[in-house]
Amino acid sequence: MTPHVEPDPQAGAAVKAADRAHVFHSWSAQGLIDPLAVAGAEGSYFWDYDGNRYLDFTSGLVYTNIGYQHPRVVEAIREQAGRLATFAPAFAVDVRSEAARLIAERTPGDLDKIFFTNGGAEAVENAVRMARLHTGRAKVLSAYRSYHGATSTAINLTGDPRRWPSDTGSAGVVHFWAPFLYRSPFYSSTQAEESARALQHLEDTIAFEGPQTVAAIVLETIPGTAGIMTPPPGYLAGVREICDRYGIVFVLDEVMAGFGRTGAWFAAEHYGVVPDLMTFAKGVNSGYVPLGGVAISAEIAATFDRRPYPGGLTYSGHPLACAAAVATIRVMEDEKVVEHAAHIGETVLGPGLRELAERHPSVGEVRGLGAFWALELVRDRETREPLVPYNASGGAAAPMAAFGAACKKNGLWPFINMNRTHAVPACNITEAEAKEGLAALDAALTVADEHTV
Ligand SMILES: Cc1ncc(COP(=O)(O)O)c(C=O)c1O
Repeated sequence: MTPHVEPDPQAGAAVKAADRAHVFHSWSAQGLIDPLAVAGAEGSYFWDYDGNRYLDFTSGLVYTNIGYQHPRVVEAIREQAGRLATFAPAFAVDVRSEAARLIAERTPGDLDKIFFTNGGAEAVENAVRMARLHTGRAKVLSAYRSYHGATSTAINLTGDPRRWPSDTGSAGVVHFWAPFLYRSPFYSSTQAEESARALQHLEDTIAFEGPQTVAAIVLETIPGTAGIMTPPPGYLAGVREICDRYGIVFVLDEVMAGFGRTGAWFAAEHYGVVPDLMTFAKGVNSGYVPLGGVAISAEIAATFDRRPYPGGLTYSGHPLACAAAVATIRVMEDEKVVEHAAHIGETVLGPGLRELAERHPSVGEVRGLGAFWALELVRDRETREPLVPYNASGGAAAPMAAFGAACKKNGLWPFINMNRTHAVPACNITEAEAKEGLAALDAALTVADEHTV
């Protein structure tokens, strides 16, 4: 339920004016954007100052896994602020210890030590640093069609065009193709073929780079922003085996896929793999206070038992962020949020999206699980030509812009990336809300359909 709020366009205009005058926004040409002024949010919804309410099918940036303003998490932050608002990272602090314990209990295998950061990119930076120091090697392999963050190494690991302006070609990163049957880089026609060929390609990449030069392979367990490509059976287990054979550190990035998003605490559980390092952020506390981290295996942690780890952050394990994590994890347990995400994916989102695909020629493929779904929009189902070209902007991206505008007109805030829309609502979205979102998508896809051949 959303509380009734009186529209206040004047207040909204003031918020917008100050934003336009002083806030420098991410990833944007500052003069070309028109950010919506947000008046409030609760659960799966947010609203503006003009009286418009939106069902958030983006979870912010895929992080409000328990929705907005969960009262128990808000209260935990309030309580922590009153008790001990901050304390430096070199000390043992109750709430930091408890957050680390709760996270380590849920990470797979022996990933039992937690290095806290302020977000996902810093987690990736530190995972790579640990891998390099542990192996004494420099190179890091990552996939095209990936996103790992916007700081130096993380953006170089990233496989989408946002890397290009910051790519000096000197970050020690080598990209390879991960499996994606719908647009197979290996001309495969089955998942088994795609998995085997992608593993051979990775093996070949390592052979030609020199196995003794490769510190780590960094993969999103299920690539998120790049398109929610669930890996074919056997692929991640195959990467694990390759890493073991060559002494390469296996890093799984669960910043987006972790903490319930896929209907498991971590997506790695679906594939029975245990990485050497695992990065997390976002859902760890639904982003109520910035927090991320690296979960570290016993073997890599031992590297730094007698040798100092050369990395740190003023706010590593900040008490307010850790209090939010402790409360979030308890809420997720008590309210069975992870089980709910699996259930809503199996019974409402998955079937509902597949049903939309049957009726709308613009939907080329539906893929995902839990509260983590992608719709690949195409001009032509036969050729699979994307609805807009790769990395399109301006007029070339107009069909996706029209689809997005239609979603908003129908009260749905959509996630849009290139030719895809992702259905990534809060993991505790109700069945009725999920159906409301599907109905809005249904109407908006009619607009996308107009751009098919
Ligand atoms: C898989 C993955 N890794 C890393 C990041 C970077 O996280 P942050 O934006 O918190 O630095 C993201 C953000 O979307 C992500 O999806």
